[in-house]
Amino acid sequence: MRSHWLDASPAIRTSGSKGPYEWHDVVVAGAGLTGLTTAVLLARAGKDVAVLEARSVGALATGNTTGKISLLQGNVLSRIREHQSDEMLRAYVEANQEGQAWLLRHLDEHDVPYQRRDAYTLATTDDGVAALRAELTAAQAAGLDVGWAQPTDLPFDITGAIRLADQAQINPMDVLQVLAEELLDRNGLIVEGVRVTGLGPRQQEYLTVETSAGEVHTYHLVLATGVPVLDRGGHFATLSAHRSYAATYRLPAGLAPPHGMHLSIDAPDRTLRGVPTADGEELLLVGGNDHLVGRPDSHAAAVDDLDAWVQQHYPGARRTHTWSAQDYRSIHQIPLVGALPHSEERILSATGYAKWGMTNAVAAALAITAQIHDHTPRWAETLNAHTTSAADVATGIKDNVLVGAQLATGWASAELTSLPHEAPLEGEGVVGQRHGRPLGVSTVDGTTCAVSAVCPHMGGILRWNDAELSWDCPLHASRFAPDGTRLEGPALHDLSRPREE
Ligand SMILES: Cc1cc2nc3c(=O)[nH]c(=O)nc-3n(C[C@H](O)[C@H](O)[C@H](O)COP(=O)(O)OP(=O)(O)OC[C@H]3O[C@@H](n4cnc5c(N)ncnc54)[C@H](O)[C@@H]3O)c2cc1C
Ligand code: FES
Repeated sequence: MRSHWLDASPAIRTSGSKGPYEWHDVVVAGAGLTGLTTAVLLARAGKDVAVLEARSVGALATGNTTGKISLLQGNVLSRIREHQSDEMLRAYVEANQEGQAWLLRHLDEHDVPYQRRDAYTLATTDDGVAALRAELTAAQAAGLDVGWAQPTDLPFDITGAIRLADQAQINPMDVLQVLAEELLDRNGLIVEGVRVTGLGPRQQEYLTVETSAGEVHTYHLVLATGVPVLDRGGHFATLSAHRSYAATYRLPAGLAPPHGMHLSIDAPDRTLRGVPTADGEELLLVGGNDHLVGRPDSHAAAVDDLDAWVQQHYPGARRTHTWSAQDYRSIHQIPLVGALPHSEERILSATGYAKWGMTNAVAAALAITAQIHDHTPRWAETLNAHTTSAADVATGIKDNVLVGAQLATGWASAELTSLPHEAPLEGEGVVGQRHGRPLGVSTVDGTTCAVSAVCPHMGGILRWNDAELSWDCPLHASRFAPDGTRLEGPALHDLSRPREE
């Protein structure tokens, strides 16, 4: 599964085989929108910056987003208002306005195409209309000019809609490309295929960062890795990882994508936008079927369900790409941005954008850069002071109980089930015990592979993802390729392979 953006965009220029060098002012782990924006801002301020990317630029959420740069964000504002003060809500909106303005200015300055579009949140039930009303009230409390609307170009019935005019949509790889070019022009480094794996002993005032390419010394380390790796704040325990699916379609003559950017507030969760192509056509992008990572029995069923929905409403649509990705939501509903505890403000991280990172990642980059230069913006100070309400604590306890339950049932079922003697069929994976140890065995492209089914992060029992052909952890969302290579999440290492393999 590969996104339209990653497939249709030219390769992004990096530093190739150069670096990382032994010393840098700042090391940024992760070349998504958070990492590259932070690196550019620091390079503009004269810092020597190296971006170390475990996979390739844009490989995870940023290259697989739906690319809406919007301040109308589903039910985010009403959720924040349920958990936090109106001052916090306004700070969140101000941060997102700053992020949106910075990004669009950057695109204008570099002649990167994007489309101005109205953003709509839709309801298809009466409960959905009540949720829209709460969102409208929250948006107005935050000073946004949101109002009721009646979109006329949707091929399905709705019970209500709210609208925020003049938002924007992008191809995220275009954005990463101009950021990467500017960073290289300012003598920054972007090194792909290098994973940050740990922290070694301090060398005078410098941190020692352990990587798959050896040790690097730096004054500041920025973890722009989705969920922060080297997590001293235990962020992974206060975050939930949500995976969802997206697909682009070529529509038959007479049908067209809606002009605005649409998102439903009730079930089934659906996001829609148009995607202009180089040949002047506009594809339809549809996304949805959000779930916690590693929890569904069949991921392929989620893809089929999305496709069936499109065929029902856009008969004859021809799918060009299908993909899937995950993003993280904090129990406080506010992104977690800033220095990790016990790091003397030297290790900074940003996560918890709840699938609204196009604005939140840029705001996080602005906040982190300001923090490194000792002048944090007021909205960032307010956001850092977010409170943990009784409801948040209850959610955290419930989530941890569910995590504990997943851990227990995963181990029980892995220990009780013996692995079959026959290899799994093509595209399938199975977990069971062999010699008393949980193993995962899968067959992909004709190759059968056995790996430890125990997640190296904190011992979760992995589950097979039949859409992406990967091993996914239901506890804190680490994912691994069939041969055990780490793909994403808080785990730092690959899965071990049994000796007899
Ligand atoms: C399906 C989906 C749709 C979305 N749609 C929208 C939308 O329409 N609008 C919106 O505003 N937001 C949207 N989002 C959210 C947005 O895409 C993300 O919040 C944002 O891209 C996160 O950017 P990031 O740079 O923090 O993380 P990522 O883009 O995930 O980048 C993290 C990078 O870190 C690298 N990495 C990880 N571990 C290491 C390590 N140990 N060492 C070195 N590198 C490492 C990874 O390989 C990766 O490249 C969506 C998200 C999803 C999943
Ligand atoms: S990601 Fe934490 S146990 Fe797997």
